[in-house]
Amino acid sequence: MAKGKKLYEGKAKVLYEGPEPDTLIQYFKDDATAFNAEKKDTIDGKGALNNRLSEFFMNGLTQIGVPNHFIKRLNMREQLIRSCEIVPLEVIVRNYAAGSMSKRLGIEEGTQLPRPIVEFSYKDDSLGDPLVPEEYIIAFNWASQQDLDDILALALRVNDYLSGVMYGVGIKLIDFKIEIGRVWEGDFMRLIVADEISPDSCRLWDIETGQKLDKDVFRRDLGNLTDAYTEVARRLGVLPANVAPATKPTIVH
Ligand SMILES: Nc1ncnc2c1ncn2[C@@H]1O[C@H](COP(=O)(O)OP(=O)(O)OP(=O)(O)O)[C@@H](O)[C@H]1O
Ligand SMILES: [Mg+2]
Repeated sequence: MAKGKKLYEGKAKVLYEGPEPDTLIQYFKDDATAFNAEKKDTIDGKGALNNRLSEFFMNGLTQIGVPNHFIKRLNMREQLIRSCEIVPLEVIVRNYAAGSMSKRLGIEEGTQLPRPIVEFSYKDDSLGDPLVPEEYIIAFNWASQQDLDDILALALRVNDYLSGVMYGVGIKLIDFKIEIGRVWEGDFMRLIVADEISPDSCRLWDIETGQKLDKDVFRRDLGNLTDAYTEVARRLGVLPANVAPATKPTIVH
């Protein structure tokens, strides 16, 4: 499929014009960044794994009726997506304390939260994506109260789906981040899950050993990131064609 003009190059992905109106091609790079791009590296195979894993999760969401931008995978590194207007928020869902929440509140990483907690950061790299209360979101018109209610419902559905899928392969979903986009169907605006769902944007711990299988492996120099992502893909039965599976997908009881 012919790619159109390059529209945007971010830290992990490149967006190109798609073949039809309202479509884009999302190219997954091998670049990894952390701490607002202060730490950078190229990780062989990461882009292909995230392309496959995001396809897998978005397809799963479609199956349970959660609207999202995924249309189809084009090749190892690219997928066709529906173009949308991104709501300038990172929507974070936490099931267990970790990362910035643990730091901010002094709660030990891995502590189960009383219920899933949804928080919002304002998407602005130059400000370090600061945490913002709902009141800011509405006052600054980044989203309406109705949008926020819908976003919250979407985020919790994604959380239930992802937690269940991960639990089924022996992985605890500690937290994750999604982005939401707006699409218009005539006069009607709909909110859909956009961007990506991959180990770059989730915290995933092995249930038995507590081993980290997400981008913290890179952030905290805990080993080989591709191995960690390959393990997630292997357990889910999702692997890029050119990565030989070590063993068959494991069913964890
Ligand atoms: N369906 C979509 N339509 C339009 N834009 C999208 C869609 N899905 C994701 N995006 C945007 O595409 C970009 C993906 O690139 P990448 O994730 O590398 O960006 P980034 O470096 O994390 O920067 P940003 O701060 O913009 O997220 C992001 O800006 C994301 O918001
Ligand atoms: Mg991004």
